[in-house]
Amino acid sequence: GRIAVFASGTGSNFAALVQAQREGRLGGGSIELLVSDKPEAPVAQRAEEAGIPALLLRPKDFAGREQYEAAIVAELQRRNIGLVVLAGYMRLISPVLLAPYAGRIINIHPSLLPAFAGKDAIGQALEYGVKLTGVTVHFVDGGMDTGPVIAQRSVEVQSGDTAESLAARIHQVEYALYPEVVSAFAAGKVELNGRMTTIAE
Ligand code: GRF
Repeated sequence: GRIAVFASGTGSNFAALVQAQREGRLGGGSIELLVSDKPEAPVAQRAEEAGIPALLLRPKDFAGREQYEAAIVAELQRRNIGLVVLAGYMRLISPVLLAPYAGRIINIHPSLLPAFAGKDAIGQALEYGVKLTGVTVHFVDGGMDTGPVIAQRSVEVQSGDTAESLAARIHQVEYALYPEVVSAFAAGKVELNGRMTTIAE
């Protein structure tokens, strides 16, 4: 399937997905577009280096969220994008985008949801003092990190961990897990029944 990756920041997951595609680990998935709400974010530079087209739009330049997302949907449809992969995209998605892409938008979050949804999940986990955290890939709905879970992988918190050391281990898990799930998603192998998902063989 033709994939658009949405990202707002560093874009290390975007880079990991691009690398996975180069190495033939994205199955039938093909990254055709980067969408970013932060034209100055490092991820835009990464897309340029990778030769991937980028749609860089400032939400402030639109009358509202609906108009901003309508512009995105128009470009997704123009490019025949079938799948939307959020990778550090720091915005909620409205029905303008959710409706045409129902069941075709996924996100990665650096905790074992439903624990530590929202911003700074890694900081939240350290502050809480959990011994186990991890990574979740899930379908996107209108809420903040609330859609049905597709895959989860755990990461142990070690004594002496800082936000940086824990983030580094979590990111390594993300870079491995997200291409696996995106590959299955692109192959149409991720099935949703209510809130229960299964990944077909
Ligand atoms: C990742 O930890 C992801 O789980 C979260 O935002 C972060 C994005 O990092 N949603 P990067 O921009 O991919 O480096």
